[in-house]
Amino acid sequence: MYNDNPTLLSIKNIDELKQGEVFFNEQTEKEAPKGKKFYIESYGCAMNFSDSEIVASVLADVGFSATRNMEESDLILINTCSIREKAEDTVRKRLRIFDKVKRSRPGTMVGVLGCMAERLKKKLLEQEKLVDLVVGPDAYRDLPKLVSTVEEGEKGVNVLLSREETYADISPLRLDSNGVSGFISIMRGCDNMCSFCVVPFTRGRERSREPFSIVAEATDLYERGYREVTLLGQNVDSYKWKNPETEKVVTFANLLEMVAKVHPDLRIRFSTSHPKDITDEVLYTMRDYENICKYIHLPVQSGNSRVLELMNRTYDREWYMDKVRRIYEIMPDCAISSDIITGFCSETEEEHQDTLSMIEWANYTMSYMFFYSERPGTMAARKYEDDVPLEVKKRRLAEVIRIQSQVSFKNLQKDIGKTYKVLIEGDSKRSDQEWKGRNTQNKMIIFPKKGNHQPSQYVQVKVTESTSATLRGEII
Ligand code: 5AD
Ligand code: SF4
Repeated sequence: MYNDNPTLLSIKNIDELKQGEVFFNEQTEKEAPKGKKFYIESYGCAMNFSDSEIVASVLADVGFSATRNMEESDLILINTCSIREKAEDTVRKRLRIFDKVKRSRPGTMVGVLGCMAERLKKKLLEQEKLVDLVVGPDAYRDLPKLVSTVEEGEKGVNVLLSREETYADISPLRLDSNGVSGFISIMRGCDNMCSFCVVPFTRGRERSREPFSIVAEATDLYERGYREVTLLGQNVDSYKWKNPETEKVVTFANLLEMVAKVHPDLRIRFSTSHPKDITDEVLYTMRDYENICKYIHLPVQSGNSRVLELMNRTYDREWYMDKVRRIYEIMPDCAISSDIITGFCSETEEEHQDTLSMIEWANYTMSYMFFYSERPGTMAARKYEDDVPLEVKKRRLAEVIRIQSQVSFKNLQKDIGKTYKVLIEGDSKRSDQEWKGRNTQNKMIIFPKKGNHQPSQYVQVKVTESTSATLRGEII
């Protein structure tokens, strides 16, 4: 089920991969051949990948260009994730590799960015002796100064969280981009206190970015040939921006409409939605604009009301089901996907069965599935015992994955014979004779090239067959 296409949904699982995505920008490298070079790896959610583009922009302003080759870089950065223990373990392994480069090239600086920097702060410098820089998610503007500090022989640390920082005025340097779809960060932080989650501690309080800068960024991407933007936030449905002069409030539904109006050929996606916050107004706006994709990532986490309460999700099974019903009522063709955690504190077999039945009932097109990993400092770590044995968590996860695969497969099979508008993203992984692209429901379709099409163009594709995770078709 893991898929390593550079899209929002695949990226959330990057912490499961051996190596992070390497960001590279040929243009910047060409522009500053004699300048200093940085190398960056990103792990975790799409927000982290989007942040790396902000980091690249901040560094480019002071003469750094990106390189794919860590051996030739002056600054090695790793943008980290703390969501599960495994994500942090992966980062520690990468730091061992960076250590070797640093030893062979004295003077190379190594910096840890993102959620792990925020969670571990100065402790990271003690634990990882060769780390020079520790920079939290709200401190990227400070990077040039911190790099100078390191060049002067000191360590550079800034892990201050902010209530205001949204990097609204920084134009992200699109790295490793396919030139078709781009991320736009619309808000930062999270005010939900899901008991399992470390994010409120690593990314701080929720704040929304000023909407006109979001529209300007979408317009700029459109003008540069992009045809899809994904609006990013930990909880996009609670986006709220108040105009300080008029006091008028811009909601997420308003923002969606503003971005949808940039151009009818610019597709809009968004992630992530919290079931408690997604409103009818958002659903109607999605329905009314063809270019807002009919796809909602609506993490349920568990299908059982008692477990949901322990998770502090603030909805129960029935409430979630009502929300799903509402989505299908307003947009019968809308695809819904989910995040699921197995083996949360005290979860029984019966409660686990409720999660399995939810997958079938909600008919998720796909899910990101994890076993529970206790994170220090979270409400669950403080209040509940992590008492489901690891092998039980893993067995439940395997069951969840099996049911989801069956549901996904059935869903894909239903698409055979249907024709979809597909945005061409580029060559398929296997062959340069085939295109890959997605339909509005975020389903990947592979089809043979025909005629003079190029990435960023829309084509009508008739689905002819389905494999376990993708559709195949032909241009009509
Ligand atoms: N253990 C396992 N999975 C977690 N997630 C968040 N915190 C944890 C944790 N402690 C999952 C949730 C969330 C997704 C991004 O990661 O499903 O929606
Ligand atoms: Fe990982 Fe969460 Fe931080 Fe994203 S916000 S990088 S998922 S811990």
